[in-house]
Amino acid sequence: MRVEPAASLDGHFAVPGDKSISHRALLLGAVSDGETVVRGWGRSGDTLSTLAAVRALGVQVDESGDELVVHGVGLRGLQSAELDCGNAGTLARLIIGLLAFQEGQTFTLTGDASLSARPMERIAEPLRRMGAQIETTDGHLPLTVTGSRLAAIDYELPVASAQVKSAVLLAALGATGKTTVIEPVPTRDHTELMLRAAGASIATRPSSVSVDRTESIRVGSVDIPGDFSSAAPFVVAATLLPESRITIHDVNLNVRRTGLLDVLDRMGGRVGIVARTRAGAEQAGDLEIRTAELTATKVGTAEVPLLVDELPLFGLLAAHAHGESWVYGAGELRHKETDRIEAVVDALRAIGVRARAQDDGFSVTGVPARPRGGRVDSRGDHRIAMLGAVAGLASRDGVQIEDAESVAVSFPGFFDLLAQIART
Ligand code: S3P
Repeated sequence: MRVEPAASLDGHFAVPGDKSISHRALLLGAVSDGETVVRGWGRSGDTLSTLAAVRALGVQVDESGDELVVHGVGLRGLQSAELDCGNAGTLARLIIGLLAFQEGQTFTLTGDASLSARPMERIAEPLRRMGAQIETTDGHLPLTVTGSRLAAIDYELPVASAQVKSAVLLAALGATGKTTVIEPVPTRDHTELMLRAAGASIATRPSSVSVDRTESIRVGSVDIPGDFSSAAPFVVAATLLPESRITIHDVNLNVRRTGLLDVLDRMGGRVGIVARTRAGAEQAGDLEIRTAELTATKVGTAEVPLLVDELPLFGLLAAHAHGESWVYGAGELRHKETDRIEAVVDALRAIGVRARAQDDGFSVTGVPARPRGGRVDSRGDHRIAMLGAVAGLASRDGVQIEDAESVAVSFPGFFDLLAQIART
């Protein structure tokens, strides 16, 4: 796929439903009592893996457009199955928490080559402490879970990961006693918000979350706002292209997801929240973005989880900013769909930007002018393919993206939307 330079971006649009919330709505709906109606479900490669997984576990799900009806089987009603998690890390990590206490049932999890290279011991280790029976393949998929009796633990997260936190909190629903997860740095809290709305006994404090064992949950309905991570490439493109003005409607604005807006604000970005709404337990709103001149900034450990999936795009903002920008405390990027530290630095260099990889982040020397362009290898990683696309719009000569179809993992209509709003 080739993306040619654009003069500006112009338009009003919405992006598909949030991927993190879409996974959780299906997973919690599956173990809920009664029906869960999910509106605004974001259909993508990853969420389709979750849909197939819950069906394989014996859960009926009716689909009509972006609305799903999940016929929950109750907290302890999942049936033995082999689950192909595809590329979806969130599915693979979160579902283990629920499978761990399905007594008398056995489950096998597999994934694609990328997911099979990602660490799973970070999930298995705390759950085993609760009594779970989990066997990994040298710390990776394929993995088997044999449902067993669980007991509560207190667990301090060794890595800032919402996926690990969520797996333990979901296992806590079936574990005798009160489980507490301590998180040194806040990460996304969609699981906590949905559990509370579903009637679970959950207490959240600034740096910890506790969940009690329960007999049942009832989600009822979930309204899913647009995915901030899918809006982000457009936020960045409109910031970089002259005389741009776009409005993105009904985007999830959970503060643990929108770190890019704070970073952009201190770089000189012009993003306004023009309407605030709520979508169930989640904040949402409309974003208006205009072109801006940027100055360099640093993104460190405490901020990283708040824009973890947007750090590749931050690299591109940094490339256009006055001065040198840094990301540090982001070693987790090496464990995403690809090693995103290497992938981002390679992508930026390939288009003529000066960038350097560090152990736990990267640095970029910005020049407030269009970079040359070139060939970006997405390495099959959707976020790197999107980085390449925005880089192409904001380049002098355009960008050739390898494996561009990987965008379908989170946003199948990405290139069509880009073509609609780009002005040449
Ligand atoms: C996610 C958490 C993050 C994020 C991923 C989705 C989630 O992963 O990168 O895209 O939905 O909980 P980590 O928990 O591994 O940081």
